[in-house]
Amino acid sequence: MNKKTIKHSSYTLKPAHIIETKYLTDDIKYFKLRFTDGTDLDYTPGQFVMVSMCGVGEVPISISSTPTRKGFFELVIRKAGKVTSDIHSLKTGDKIGIRGPMGRKIPLSTIEGKDLIFVAGGLGIVPLRSFIDFVLDNRRDFGKVEILLGCKTPEEILFKDEIKDWEETLNVEFNCTVDKADPKWKGNVGLITSLIPSIFVYPERTYAIVCGPPIMYKFVIKALLEKGIKEDHIILSLERHMKCGVGKCGHCQIGNYYCCQDGPVFFYHEIKNNWEAL
Ligand SMILES: Cc1cc2nc3c(=O)[nH]c(=O)nc-3n(C[C@H](O)[C@H](O)[C@H](O)COP(=O)(O)OP(=O)(O)OC[C@H]3O[C@@H](n4cnc5c(N)ncnc54)[C@H](O)[C@@H]3O)c2cc1C
Ligand code: FES
Repeated sequence: MNKKTIKHSSYTLKPAHIIETKYLTDDIKYFKLRFTDGTDLDYTPGQFVMVSMCGVGEVPISISSTPTRKGFFELVIRKAGKVTSDIHSLKTGDKIGIRGPMGRKIPLSTIEGKDLIFVAGGLGIVPLRSFIDFVLDNRRDFGKVEILLGCKTPEEILFKDEIKDWEETLNVEFNCTVDKADPKWKGNVGLITSLIPSIFVYPERTYAIVCGPPIMYKFVIKALLEKGIKEDHIILSLERHMKCGVGKCGHCQIGNYYCCQDGPVFFYHEIKNNWEAL
């Protein structure tokens, strides 16, 4: 586990320019970045970076863009505390420090040719967008795609314009549910698990990729298992408090694993025995 070779890029802080930024909601901001030396970030969907504000601190943030689109990478950051508030104050043209990519590169060959179900709760759509856009950019290499999104309210749905494009893509089904509707909402109301029973799956050729708030996992996994999807076909992107990001400090431990290095993306069968820790 933490005996793995740690890449140089995991320790080295590299400056990146903010080339575009916009608010997606009152407290969630999008950042498009490019390294000042013009190189690309060499990552796989599911990985994250440590974003550093000099003299303030460093935070782990998922990479939201797909590596198939070159020349930039994208982050979406919710204002939570000191570091993320300072990052929010940055504008186009400002510079920021990046370490990474961090986390394991999951072998995408495992899911090639398979039907995929993406299950995102709230901000969980941020890392899943990297997988979704990767799959859509390589559409012929994958089977049927179902995207299930659950949000508290319709205002909290991120990437509304992109969702329209996803819905128009051949063999892609998008379904969204909200906990609390407004008068304009015409979609589902209820928890994300309410969307799972009605989807049609061929369990042996289906993989599910799940990311959302901690409370969601237990119920979503149960619903997926009830659909016949195997434990080693359920992929979970987990979040833990992190400090070093390189398997040294132990802050992100889940049983025998360090979430920062062995994850944050895990297959369910790998970590199900540490379920109490999830
Ligand atoms: C692998 C990974 C990927 C992440 N990706 C994203 C992302 O794409 N976009 C995004 O907005 N956030 C993401 N986060 C969460 C983000 O790292 C935290 O919100 C951030 O570290 C808070 O730092 P702060 O100094 O602003 O706030 P702090 O003052 O450190 O904390 C503010 C509040 O947030 C809580 N908090 C801090 N870190 C976490 C955490 N990891 N999980 C749950 N609660 C936390 C604290 O307990 C506190 O209540 C990710 C976290 C991990 C581990
Ligand atoms: S953050 Fe994972 S061991 Fe330090």
